[in-house]
Amino acid sequence: MSYIEIEYPQEKAAFYDVLCEQIALYADGDNDPVAVMANASAVIKQAFPGVNWAGFYLADGNRLKLGPFQGRPAVTRIDKGTGVCGTAWELGESIVVEEVECFEGHIACDCNTHSEIVVPLFRRSGELFGVLDMDSVTPAYFSEDDRVGLERAAETLERLLGL
Ligand code: SME
Repeated sequence: MSYIEIEYPQEKAAFYDVLCEQIALYADGDNDPVAVMANASAVIKQAFPGVNWAGFYLADGNRLKLGPFQGRPAVTRIDKGTGVCGTAWELGESIVVEEVECFEGHIACDCNTHSEIVVPLFRRSGELFGVLDMDSVTPAYFSEDDRVGLERAAETLERLLGL
């Protein structure tokens, strides 16, 4: 399969309709977690011009381990309750950070990052599977509409991965 560059709608709900379709399209009928998340991180990075890192951290015991991603090399382990990712796990909800320097305990991976969003992915049992993490070089890049849209993307992934 070859990647076809598409133009995303400006309007957020329509944008996320297309993003979810693209994530499903490039899963290509596969439910292998690495294949699905690798292509999902590529689709997401392509769709957001202001995003410098997009990828997954996966629950492993009481910590998160680095999963498929696009961007600069990143920290490989994050304990539950630490950083933005581990805090999203502890709270069991998405976190939108307008300026990472103002988030106490933020774990810096790329010094160009200003804002970040972390969206949890859950198994049907309610247990955390992992988190989708996105960073931007622009302060306050992620809005409330993005949180809603990316939670829809996370639901799409939960379905594709058969969680
Ligand atoms: N900033 C994250 C760490 C991962 S990098 O952003 C890729 C955090 O504070 O959990």
